[in-house]
Amino acid sequence: MLSQTACLLLTVLLSLAASERNTYVLSKLDQVIYVYPSDIKKDKDLTVCEPDSVCGVVNQRFWLPPFAQRFCQCPKSQCPFSWSDNHNRSVPLDNRSQLKTCEDTRNLMVCDRSTVALTVTETRDLSTGRHDKDVRLLCKCSWPAYWKLYMREANATVTYSEYICSQLGYCRSGQFCGHVRADTYSTYYQCACPRDHLCINHDKVQRNVTELLFHGKMMRAHCVPNHHPNSV
Ligand SMILES: *[C@@H]1O[C@H](CO)[C@@H](O)[C@H](O)[C@H]1NC(C)=O
Ligand SMILES: *[C@@H]1O[C@H](CO)[C@@H](O)[C@H](O)[C@H]1NC(C)=O
Ligand SMILES: *[C@@H]1O[C@H](CO)[C@@H](O)[C@H](O)[C@H]1NC(C)=O
Ligand SMILES: *[C@@H]1O[C@H](CO)[C@@H](O)[C@H](O)[C@H]1NC(C)=O
Repeated sequence: MLSQTACLLLTVLLSLAASERNTYVLSKLDQVIYVYPSDIKKDKDLTVCEPDSVCGVVNQRFWLPPFAQRFCQCPKSQCPFSWSDNHNRSVPLDNRSQLKTCEDTRNLMVCDRSTVALTVTETRDLSTGRHDKDVRLLCKCSWPAYWKLYMREANATVTYSEYICSQLGYCRSGQFCGHVRADTYSTYYQCACPRDHLCINHDKVQRNVTELLFHGKMMRAHCVPNHHPNSV
């Protein structure tokens, strides 16, 4: 495809998390940065998605092109690469990120409290360093919600995690309300702040945190009164 070949402008290897090497491919045409696992540089080299697969994630960023993470290739169409407000192949991941699917998600069942909503199987090949993520969406959260880790099992090569939808409770002024990614500033809200409050980080202290489909530097956000600048 033209967008794949003509616009393969930039390929850099960066290490995000300790063992997770990704390839970043800027597409001028699509106005996104594709993020592929390991050394993969195009959708065609990914494994083919299953009907319940999450094929990718779109992370919006401030003033920069979005990241479009790719996990597998859709058999019949392209995995959506742009932010979409009509959620027909898309479900929310955090405040500024969306899970993307090959199939229409509008008829997907809404999860109930204790149903496993999503599974992630991460595989590492210790000899080549190659890693893959197989992400399956089993039902959708009634949004807003928090993708809460329900269980995780790991050995040297495979990490398997299950997530459930946790409805946002209310938190009080000053309480912890979620983690903010240090790279994209998207927020994984864990509860809803009172009226006239914002859930923001008031310092820049970064910790290594694992949230759904993200492991890396995050800041802690708290409910902070949203005072008007010129009121006292
Ligand atoms: C976070 O993880 C990275 C990579 O594993 C490590 O180099 C760094 O020291 C960690 N930072 C903190 C604050 O724990
Ligand atoms: C999804 O939404 C887009 C934009 O409105 C629309 O063009 C497309 O037909 C929709 N897909 C389906 C399967 O309805
Ligand atoms: C997402 O976060 C931004 C910045 O913290 C905030 O302004 C916005 O209202 C949030 N959006 C949603 C849907 O929660
Ligand atoms: C890790 O677990 C997977 C899945 O259960 C299994 O196939 C694999 O053999 C295990 N690997 C090791 C090194 O134990």
